[in-house]
Amino acid sequence: MVQVTKTVTDYSSDSTDERSDYAVEVRNLTKYFGKFCAVDHISFSVKKGEIFGLLGPNGAGKTTTIRMLTTLLTPSEGNATILGYDLRKKQNEIRKKIGLCSEKVIGYSHLTPMENLKFFGTLYDIPDEEIEKRSLNLLKFVELYEWKDTPIGSFSTGMRQRMNIIRSLIHDPELLFLDEPTLGLDPQSARKIRRLIKKLNEDGKTIILTSHYMNEIEELCDRLIIIDHGKIIAQGTAEEIKQQTQTNSLEDAFIKLTGESTRDTIDLKQLKKSLMQRRMRPHA
Ligand SMILES: Nc1ncnc2c1ncn2[C@@H]1O[C@H](COP(=O)(O)OP(=O)(O)OP(=O)(O)O)[C@@H](O)[C@H]1O
Ligand SMILES: [Mg+2]
Repeated sequence: MVQVTKTVTDYSSDSTDERSDYAVEVRNLTKYFGKFCAVDHISFSVKKGEIFGLLGPNGAGKTTTIRMLTTLLTPSEGNATILGYDLRKKQNEIRKKIGLCSEKVIGYSHLTPMENLKFFGTLYDIPDEEIEKRSLNLLKFVELYEWKDTPIGSFSTGMRQRMNIIRSLIHDPELLFLDEPTLGLDPQSARKIRRLIKKLNEDGKTIILTSHYMNEIEELCDRLIIIDHGKIIAQGTAEEIKQQTQTNSLEDAFIKLTGESTRDTIDLKQLKKSLMQRRMRPHA
């Protein structure tokens, strides 16, 4: 493994020390799906105020890691401290302070941005007037104000993704997880999202970001880890990883570390379902 900077801190899992310089401290985090180990004893730390990148080929374990850190999946082994809270013990406290924008667009397509934000804001028990104020500010922030009363189902992919990001900001989280926020966006929309990420970070939010776009990671991330087959294989700044691998670009470093072959895998659950459906299909 390319070990570039000190990243593991041996904190007690009971720590609720808000004075820590770290927003996230991950220790031996592991996830098994049956016998398959999707995330394999990973440890890393994210400093408060950082934009931190999670890189890896398809199926490397990035989303699974994020799902564990955002309390959506229970780790099989290991633990983490999130904003001073123990991941296994303080899930409600953690949920109030983090935001998640995943690659799948979440939101009700027949509702307008204002209605969607109101719905999600209510889930966090934010008073109506406060939701309204925040929603208008957020919509201005992502240049969707003029569409505030239009159902989001009619939005372009770029507009929907901006909407998806502000949905995750309605409760003003300290720590934001962005899982492939620019996936499938045109260069204009992707640039808008990158600017948005920088601005959120300048406003004090710690951000954990996954992306397959190396330029995006180089432009935005203070530090990053590269995961492959569930294990961390490199960590540090983009510059440090390039130096360690003696390459000139992060893409070359990534390929050198992870190899040229694609990670073609089959979802066995889905395969079983598809085969069942084929069998049940009436003959023409
Ligand atoms: N619920 C699940 N049940 C079984 N296997 C799963 C489940 N979720 C993920 N996996 C498997 O775990 C591995 C890691 O998946 P994950 O979604 O974390 O990868 P990723 O790094 O986010 O990939 P991508 O870049 O394609 O988004 C994959 O092999 C995936 O098929
Ligand atoms: Mg993923």
